[in-house]
Amino acid sequence: MRHLQPMWRLTLACVVCACGSSADGSVTTQPPPISPDTFALRALAAARGRRIGAAADHGYHLQGSDGNAFRSVLAREFNLLTPENDMKFDHLHPAQGTFNYVHADSLVAFAEANNMKVRGHTLVWHQQLPGWLTAGTWTARDVSLIMQDHITQVVNHYKGHVVSWDVVNEALNDDGRMRASFWFNSLGRSYVETAFTAAHLADPDAILFYNDYNIEGINAKSDSVYALVQALKLRGAGIGGVGFQAHFQVNGVPPTLQQNLERFAALGLKVEITELDVRVPLPSTPQSLRDQAADYAKVISACLAVANCDAVVMWGFTDKESWVPSVFSGWGDALPFDASYGKKPAYWSIYNALK
Ligand code: XIL
Repeated sequence: MRHLQPMWRLTLACVVCACGSSADGSVTTQPPPISPDTFALRALAAARGRRIGAAADHGYHLQGSDGNAFRSVLAREFNLLTPENDMKFDHLHPAQGTFNYVHADSLVAFAEANNMKVRGHTLVWHQQLPGWLTAGTWTARDVSLIMQDHITQVVNHYKGHVVSWDVVNEALNDDGRMRASFWFNSLGRSYVETAFTAAHLADPDAILFYNDYNIEGINAKSDSVYALVQALKLRGAGIGGVGFQAHFQVNGVPPTLQQNLERFAALGLKVEITELDVRVPLPSTPQSLRDQAADYAKVISACLAVANCDAVVMWGFTDKESWVPSVFSGWGDALPFDASYGKKPAYWSIYNALK
């Protein structure tokens, strides 16, 4: 509560001006009790003109065994929500011509009930595609029409409810070349522009992002993304931002993070940290969790230093529910809340960086 002292002094000073002091000079008015929620991350971020977010899913998380605890921390701390899986192609479009919005709609309703915005994730990606699509026999024209129809229907469905979309996710390899994905193999590199154009037509107000990993620092891959998004922007394809996933190993935040965000911002694009987590070797130690806290602070500070960086989203928020241990064997504890929803050193470093 040390951070409150200056404000309390101000409050007391005003009380003294307004009411005068009692005969013995003492001021009886106490500062009102302040709800800790007023100082949750989302309030601190809002005061800095930023949003702070987390990824979650409807069924597994909001309705899971920890539902109440999960929902209350999510709503208390965050003002931006990314569906971790619920808006992926296979979830929304499980059979040709069949869309299933039930889980994603409920996640959006949760966000809106709690005054959170929604980042749509993701329209065109090489993973989590339904079998009917990847196993089908299609011409290039078929695939292009399927992709555009998917984008049009989904973006239309969420028009006015989703503020920004990851339109294309992970289109590049680490060497900066186009990834040989279902989309690239069917359509060549033009699929990226086609996707943005379709999304922009469906919702001209949504901010449309290119999103990727290993592009947080300046390197061959981020150079290539830079060239890609610069070209899209010049061609008026409707791109509005670049998402930097930021799945880091502890002590692995690139020193060029801020400089890199700045060069993308200078193109007139928004830049957002979209999937932040900082994994540590298991079991974690007090030292590794302190190092992790320092890494989170670096990311928040870099975003705050760049005017066009308007959001930082974590890929989950509790170590109980994180994709990390299942994908990076031997690593985990990557998020700012522990498995019992307790605040870790990383929580407080984010808190202090936002303050
Ligand atoms: C991951 C989810 O967290 C997992 O639950 C799912 O099994 C696979 O996808 N980059 C992305 C995210 O853009 O969509 C991925 O999410 C993590 C890496």
